Amino acid sequence: MNLLIMGPAGSGKGTMSAQIVEAYGVVHISTGDMFREAIANETPVGLEAKSYMDNGKLVPDSVTDRMVKERISQDDCLNGYLLDGYPRNLSQAHAIEEMAAEINRPIDLVINLVVDYQELVKRITGRRICKTCGAIYHVDFHKPQIEGVCDIDGGALYQRVDDTEEKLAVRFEEYTKQTEPSIEYFREKGLVRDIDASQDAKKVMDDIRNILEAVK
Ligand code: AP5
Repeated sequence: MNLLIMGPAGSGKGTMSAQIVEAYGVVHISTGDMFREAIANETPVGLEAKSYMDNGKLVPDSVTDRMVKERISQDDCLNGYLLDGYPRNLSQAHAIEEMAAEINRPIDLVINLVVDYQELVKRITGRRICKTCGAIYHVDFHKPQIEGVCDIDGGALYQRVDDTEEKLAVRFEEYTKQTEPSIEYFREKGLVRDIDASQDAKKVMDDIRNILEAVK
């Protein structure tokens, strides 16, 4: 399966991607994770992306498209991919269609996670992430067994610099202005499935699974 997962910051793209990968064996490509890794490694891409990300703005398409093209062209993606956080505007939507055609893996489905803004604020400000493995927690909704410590590998949990209410407002505005039109573009092609992602995480995954079983 060749999938996109879309939705605003905090809608659960990363949380659901981990479960989809486990259930269906597709390759997870998260542009946000790739940029954060590039920043940690101080690569040229990371240096360019940092100021945009810290301010909740989109990284320029020239950098983002090149990075995705390199990743999606790797052999493992021939067994199916799950793009998380890409595309984020109409230009990127056109770019992914071209890339998918080049590797002969056209997009099967777009999972669109729908959550209202007040819920996003709670999720984003309470999110904690494992420094080592990237597992996602929440101080109220998904607590680790020991506060500040990852259940999986014992890594320290941290809060992303862009996970403040102030930065979320910018990220949400970027989403509304730039990303929603790309969702509508795919909707016109009949590819979008809306999911009520304000439900608890297990129910959200059940709904996604029902949809994916139909395209498998
Ligand atoms: P990115 O890392 O992609 O961030 P985002 O889209 O803002 O999404 P998040 O990772 O914040 O949230 P999520 O939807 O994955 O939610 P999660 O599952 O963690 O991008 C960051 C930045 O990189 C961008 O701002 C931009 O600068 C740059 N960038 C990335 N891609 C780009 C592109 N294509 N073009 C240009 N720039 C780009 O869940 C959130 C919290 O809620 C967690 O604590 C979780 O435990 C909890 N939770 C999840 N689901 C539920 C549930 N059902 N019930 C209760 N709690 C839940």
